[in-house]
Amino acid sequence: MENLNWSELGFGYIRTDYNIRCYYRNGKWGELEVCSSEILNIHMAATCLHYGQESFEGLKAFRGKDGKIRVFRMDENAKRMQSSSRGIKMAELPIELFEEAIRKVVKLNERFVPPYESGAALYIRPLMLGLGAQVGVKPAPEYMFVVFVTPVGPYFKGGFQPSKVCILREYDRAAPNGTGTIKVGGNYAASLVAGEIAHSKGYAAVLYLDPKEKKYLDECGPANFFGVRGNSYITPKSHSILPSITNKSLQQLAADMGLTVECRPVPLEEIATFDEAAECGTAAVIAPISQIDDLDENKSYVIAKDGKPGPVCETLYHKLRAIQYGDEPDNYGWIT
Ligand code: COI
Repeated sequence: MENLNWSELGFGYIRTDYNIRCYYRNGKWGELEVCSSEILNIHMAATCLHYGQESFEGLKAFRGKDGKIRVFRMDENAKRMQSSSRGIKMAELPIELFEEAIRKVVKLNERFVPPYESGAALYIRPLMLGLGAQVGVKPAPEYMFVVFVTPVGPYFKGGFQPSKVCILREYDRAAPNGTGTIKVGGNYAASLVAGEIAHSKGYAAVLYLDPKEKKYLDECGPANFFGVRGNSYITPKSHSILPSITNKSLQQLAADMGLTVECRPVPLEEIATFDEAAECGTAAVIAPISQIDDLDENKSYVIAKDGKPGPVCETLYHKLRAIQYGDEPDNYGWIT
C-alpha cells in the first residue's frame, strides 16, 4: 500500500483491507458480514462451480478534489444484479442491502480510494454465487453475495488513446436468446478464445456481430459499442448485449448536449459512415476506436484517420469524468 504508484495503476488486483459477505439461507438473506480474508471456502459441489450459477457487477468510487468519495449510480448496478439473478434462477438481493454493502466496503477501504490527481478509481466488484452441495442441474439451495474492492487505472493500455478492434465471425459471446443481456461469468468465459486471438494480432478487443444473422453490431469485448455520425449518438440494441450503465449515462449526456440518440439494431456496413466510434463501460470508461478490421472478409473501416479521439468522444469523456470526480455538479442524481 505504502509503495502504490497511483497514477501508474493498471486494471489488476491489489489486496485491500476488507470485503463484505452475506448469505442467503432458508429462503432469506442474513446480515452483512465484514471479512479480512481474501479466500472463499466453498463446497466442491456448489452449483457456481459446475453449472455457472454466478453473476457479478462492476462499479467505481472516485475521490474528488474536495477529498470526498463519490460512488456512481450504484442503484443501477443493484437493479442489474437482480436482473442477472432472475436470468439464472438465483436469489434476488434487495436493492437496499446491495447499497448498504457498497457503502460499507468503500468506507472500510477508504485509504485505497486513489487521490484525485492520479485519475485512478476504486473498482468495486460485487458477485453472487450459488452454494450448497448438489449435482443435479437445478438452482442452488443457498447463495453467497460478496463485495470486494481494488484500486484501478485504465482498462485498456492506451486509456483514452484510440485503438483498433477486429471482427471474428467464427465466434459469438452469447446466444441470440441466451444470457448476453445479464452479467454472468459464462458470457466472459465464452469471449476468452476470441479475445486472445484478437490480442495476439494486436487488437484491443473483438467487436461481436449479432449471433443470429451476423448482420448487426453487438457487444465490443467486455464493453458496449457506440458510434457518432454528425449529430447522432448511435448504439446497438439486441438481446445479447449487456445494458451498460456507462452507455445509459452517455446517452443521457449526449441527448442533453443536443445530440439525437439512436438505440437500435446497427447494421455492420453502417460503421463506414461513422465519424467516431468507441467502447464504453465502467472499466473501459470511453475507449475510442481508430479502426475496425473485419478479418474474415478482409475489410477495414478506418474511423479516426488522424489517430486521435473525436470531439464528441472527448466532450462526453470529460463530462462523465467531471460528474464522477465531483468537478461538475451532479444534476442527474447519479452520485452517492
Ligand atoms: C466493467 O466494466 O465493470 C466490467 O465488468 C467489464 C469487465 C472488466 C469484465
